[in-house]
Amino acid sequence: MLELRSVSHRYGDVLAVDQLSLTVASGEFFTLLGPSGCGKTTLLRLIAGFERPSAGQILLDGEDLSAMPPERRPVHTVFQSYALFPHLTVAENIAFPLRMARRPEAEIRERVREQLALVRLEGMAERYPAALSGGQRQRVAVARAIVNRPRILLLDEPLAALDLKLREQLQLELIRLQRSLGITFVYVTHDQSEALALSHRVGVMNRGRLVQVDAPAAIYERPRNRFVADFIGQCNLLEARVQGQADGRLRVELPGLPVLLDVPAEPGVETGEQGVLAVRPEHIRLTPAGPGEQGLAGQIQGHLFLGAVSLYQVELANGMRLDVQAASRPGEPAPEPGAPMQLSWPLQAGRFLRD
Ligand SMILES: Nc1ncnc2c1ncn2[C@@H]1O[C@H](COP(=O)(O)OP(=O)(O)O)[C@@H](O)[C@H]1O
Ligand SMILES: [Mg+2]
Repeated sequence: MLELRSVSHRYGDVLAVDQLSLTVASGEFFTLLGPSGCGKTTLLRLIAGFERPSAGQILLDGEDLSAMPPERRPVHTVFQSYALFPHLTVAENIAFPLRMARRPEAEIRERVREQLALVRLEGMAERYPAALSGGQRQRVAVARAIVNRPRILLLDEPLAALDLKLREQLQLELIRLQRSLGITFVYVTHDQSEALALSHRVGVMNRGRLVQVDAPAAIYERPRNRFVADFIGQCNLLEARVQGQADGRLRVELPGLPVLLDVPAEPGVETGEQGVLAVRPEHIRLTPAGPGEQGLAGQIQGHLFLGAVSLYQVELANGMRLDVQAASRPGEPAPEPGAPMQLSWPLQAGRFLRD
């Protein structure tokens, strides 16, 4: 439904968006995730029509949007800063787009009441923005953005200014709202857990390009490269080399260690290639080293008790360090620094990444 074809955007010397192609389906909750400065806001501004692409096309249902001014696009934007009119009440703020469209008074009243219920602000209609909390203001901004039922809602880090509890609550509300309205959301965040929690699909961006577009679980479990593995969640990344392959597995070696480790085969990866072995801390099992055991041996360096889980740092014989996360077990003493341990993980938890 929304299609970007090899879109680029330059600000002078800065290439903010670099030949980016993407299709977002109707009714999808799509999130652009990436570090600050990777071009997320620029991409939204291009879709909204506040910027013209330096190259490429943006299409809606096959129609090129380039000649359409922002106010005529069936697209609305919610920004991080609430951008409410301070001298208007909540109800008047929400009614504003309808007044601009010269809708009849009775309809405006009914629609405003409806939006207030959708964002759970019944009873706040006559308040001014200054008398609202940050979360309530952002709900008003969302209500105002959807009152005209745009085809696409663009949200640029709308929850970034809120504290964690409130953010989680509003995340749940945004999911509910998006599913019940069926409006296509293009959501921007630099917060990976927010992206994973909210979206049907996530597009991970780096330096103006899309690095990987996938469902949240696929992004987390099968990151395409080192950047994605590192940016999404915690991940151990160990320099490794492919020593051989057979039966749908790669056999990799870590420098200076006698053991070989198996990971699932990767299309196109060849024997002899250098890359990294990626394995997440929560997938590693830590057991006391037994006599004669094969496998990856390490020594506890330190340990952080984080409540529900504990984080261990383990050093391998070649000096490489791994983080291991384990559920905390009440009454069980944590292994002491220096304790020899055995590290293992299910085959599917390891990945060989070439860049
Ligand atoms: N108006 C502008 N003029 C010049 N450079 C800009 C402008 N807006 C953004 N940039 C640059 O473009 C790049 C992408 O910025 P932006 O789209 O805001 O990234 P993000 O939203 O991911 O943080 C950055 O290098 C930023 O400095
Ligand atoms: Mg931004």
